[in-house]
Parts: sequence; structure tokens; C-alpha cells
Amino acid sequence: MPHIKVTPFETAKLDRLVATDPLFDFRAVPHNPNRETSPIELLGVEMEGERFVLEIHKRQGAYLIKPDKPTRPLDVNRIKRTLRYLAHAAELNIEQDNIALSSTKPPLAATYNKRIEDFESPDFGGRSIAIEVGFGSGRHLLYQAKAHPEVLHIGIEIHTPSAQQVLKQIQLQGLSNVWIVNYDARLLLEMLPSNVATALYVHFPVPWDKKPHRRVISEPFVAEAMRVLAPKGVLELRTDSDHYYAYALEVFSQRERVQFEVTKNHEAAIRSKYEDRWQRQGKNIYTLRLIAEEESPEISREYDFSFDRPLKPYDALLALPKEAIIRSDHFVHFERRYRMVTEEGVVLKCSFGSFDRPEHKLITVRETQAAYYPQAPVRSMTNSRAHHTIGAFIYA
Ligand SMILES: C[S@@+](CC[C@H](N)C(=O)[O-])C[C@H]1O[C@@H](n2cnc3c(N)ncnc32)[C@H](O)[C@@H]1O
Repeated sequence: MPHIKVTPFETAKLDRLVATDPLFDFRAVPHNPNRETSPIELLGVEMEGERFVLEIHKRQGAYLIKPDKPTRPLDVNRIKRTLRYLAHAAELNIEQDNIALSSTKPPLAATYNKRIEDFESPDFGGRSIAIEVGFGSGRHLLYQAKAHPEVLHIGIEIHTPSAQQVLKQIQLQGLSNVWIVNYDARLLLEMLPSNVATALYVHFPVPWDKKPHRRVISEPFVAEAMRVLAPKGVLELRTDSDHYYAYALEVFSQRERVQFEVTKNHEAAIRSKYEDRWQRQGKNIYTLRLIAEEESPEISREYDFSFDRPLKPYDALLALPKEAIIRSDHFVHFERRYRMVTEEGVVLKCSFGSFDRPEHKLITVRETQAAYYPQAPVRSMTNSRAHHTIGAFIYA
């Protein structure tokens, strides 16, 4: 992760930048500094149209400046450019860094690198769609994209380095029918329109035998998959795990009017690295194909994530409960509170939404206006419920 380690400096000098330089949005300090691992300051920045947050930490007699995890851009060079700019503009004395821009690496294939927000009103260009969840090294995704140039292939991968690697491959191979989304597939699926996909591949998902709630396949996931698939579309699960196979069979069987096929050790057109390994170990490989039966109704997207009522005073916001607020189908946790330094205001660091795929956002409050930072949460029903709970705590 790009970072700079600088000689400790008077952070108040950043206020001039926040006041005069459009790159800097706010500076905030913790309301109750406590944990050693917590940042001592936050800096909201906007570089090349993308907003994110830099954290300043105290480390071994120096200050470490790095992006915070939930908001950090996928484009590593963008983070590096921001840190270089900050170091120059604030005349910081860099002791150590890893922000050299790599000119030999090709730039990320930006047109194929989609953000979750791009799916709020997606334009697939009239193409039919195939989706792959957790594509890992991308062998199957790239193979399918080359074999079916008329189909738009959407690969969803939660692991950022894998997403970056495959983006480079797309660029190198000159493919124009692949979109990559570096996100949790369970959430993205909720955003997709109904009846759009002809195939949804889940190949060799992590079995999570000890933490089954983290599995990709679940009843809600299968329900969403069936909604997103057009009639006769196929959800294809491949696994080498006997446990996962038995579990998926049970989940699939619970659906009404279900039609599925099971094959064992079926030779696929392309083998992933995992499959190669399992085959060498002589493991059984199961393929389950669940077929969508009927047309599904369209989902509602009428969610409003603005804060449109008068807010509590700043002191009351800084005293919001520290414990997570648990509801039956969502939660809200005001994890940390910060005071803005450059102006009257408060920054709340929150996690909220569904238990197994929470959102992590800041809420900035200034001039009696509250807003999510860097942008509103994903437009899912669970997030909408959590938004109402947040409102119940921050409105006067
Ligand atoms: C065992 S690997 C299999 C990769 C690939 N499908 C193959 O067959 O080689 C599972 C992949 O799923 C990804 N993954 C796990 N949970 C995910 C989720 N909720 N959303 C998207 N990707 C996920 C992991 O990061 C990992 O790359």
C-alpha cells in the first residue's frame, strides 16, 4: 500500500491547504484519542475526480500517511500522486516512501474497471451478459470472453490484487467485452437488473467450513441469482469440497419449482489453477447447474440516501453510542468520531448494513448538512434500512 513516512510536523499547516487547495477537503482529529492503532488525523482529499481519505498515524517517532482502506482508490498510481502532491504542497520531509510511479506498468484498463456505483443505472450496450463470481486468476473469465465476443462478461472479485492482475490481462489481450468489479459479489448481485444474465459462474468458492455464513452460496444469494438470470439462464457452481457440494445441494433443493443438474468430474473446457491442483490430488469435482425457470419482477431502486432533516448539535453527535446498534436485518456502528479542524463540523466513521457484507463510510456533518463520504452507500434495501436507523440517531 502506498504510504509516506515523514518527520513529525505541525499538522495545523495543512489547514492552509484545506482552505486554499481544491485537492484537500477537510482535516479532522479524533474526538477521544485512545487506541494506539487509531490515526491521529484524517485528511479528506479529492484527486482526479475521486474522493478518498488519508490517515495520519504516529509510528516510531515519525508520521505515517496512508489511505484508509474502505475509501482507497483501486488505481495505486492515483494514491501515489496524491501522496507526492501532499508532501510537496505541505513541504513535508519524507524519511521513507514507496510512491515512485511505475512507468513500465501499463495503466489500468479504466474502461473495464467498474465501480459498484456504475451499476446504479448500468448500460450493457444491448449485449447479453455472463457473470463470474470470484474469478481469482481469471483463466475461466478470459477464456469465456475470448470464446464469446458478443457477450459482455462481468467478473466480480473481492481480492484487489487479483482484480488488478486480470485488468492488466484484459488490456494486454485487447478484450473489449469484459468488466471487472472489485467488490463483494453478494452485494453487487442485489444491484443488477432482473432477467439480464444468461450465465452466472461460481467456480471453486472458498468452502469456509468453519464460518459457513461467509460462503458465497446462500439462500438469499441463490434467490438473487435466479432473479438476475433470464429464463433458462444457468447458475453454475463447481467445487472440490464434499461439504460445500452437500451444502449447495441442500440450498438449491429448498427452492420451489427447482431444476438442476449435477455432474461429477466433468471435464471443463478450461481448467482454473485450483482445478489443476485438485485434479493432481485426485479429488472429486462436482458441477451443479441450477436453471432459472421464469421471468422475475424488476427491483425497486427508489432509495434515498440523503439526510434531509435537522440534525442534533455537534456535541450530541460526538456522544453517539459507541456500541453497535443491532436490528433484526441490519446494524449500524458509529465506530469513531472526529472533529473537523478547519471549520465547525464532525466526521463519523461508521459501518452499517448487512452483517456479512457491511458498508464502511464516513458521514461528514458541517453547516447543519450531513452527507456520506466519499459517496452514498450502495443502493440496496439493507443499506436503505440502515440509513433510516442512522437518521434516527443523528436527527434532532
Ligand atoms: C478459491 S478461489 C477460486 C478462484 C477461481 N474461481 C478459480 O477457480 O481458480 C475463490 C475466489 O473467490 C473470491 N471471493 C470470495 N468471496 C467473494 C465474494 N463475496 N465476492 C467476490 N469474490 C469473492 C476470492 O477472493 C477468491 O479469488
